[in-house]
Amino acid sequence: MIEIHCPSDADTRAAARRLAALCRPGDVIVLNGSLGAGKTAFAGGLAEGLGVDEPVTSPTFVLMRTYRSGFLPFFHVDAYRLGSIGEFEDLTAIESAEEGVVVIEWGGAVAVALPKDRLEVELTRNADESRTIRFHPAGTWTTRQLKEIES
Ligand SMILES: Nc1ncnc2c1ncn2[C@@H]1O[C@H](COP(=O)(O)OP(=O)(O)OP(=O)(O)O)[C@@H](O)[C@H]1O
Ligand SMILES: [Mg+2]
Repeated sequence: MIEIHCPSDADTRAAARRLAALCRPGDVIVLNGSLGAGKTAFAGGLAEGLGVDEPVTSPTFVLMRTYRSGFLPFFHVDAYRLGSIGEFEDLTAIESAEEGVVVIEWGGAVAVALPKDRLEVELTRNADESRTIRFHPAGTWTTRQLKEIES
């Protein structure tokens, strides 16, 4: 497990940009953390790192947004409003991710439908508005240089 401290929104985005450098087609990244923890900010930084040239906005109402302007297709899912696991499966996010990177906010809610080979990112909001971000790797993620996210 890697843990980093991000005083500002810009720090959270920068950490996510560094994570992008470790991403490969087929990656599944889950973002967990309470309302306003910074999941969308993190997803935005990751998209920037993948070369996406549009701002990432919350996909809450469309459930999944696809960005194709980067080096890899980037799929951004918000599981918060999904009514069921079936609704998540209907998005075919995991199948889509075979060609790119899929990031799932509130992914804990659909954990049973996710591959075991995934990176779990847990964002916590501290009293001083800074964020603590913990990376829990599984599968191939355990062999990647997650330490590079720290600098
Ligand atoms: N250190 C920080 N890291 C991330 N965001 C921060 C930080 N400090 C302040 N913020 C602010 O907190 C807010 C985080 O909002 P964001 O939409 O990313 O959260 P979220 O976890 O996606 O929320 P939701 O659960 O509603 O989807 C933003 O307004 C961001 O600018
Ligand atoms: Mg969000």
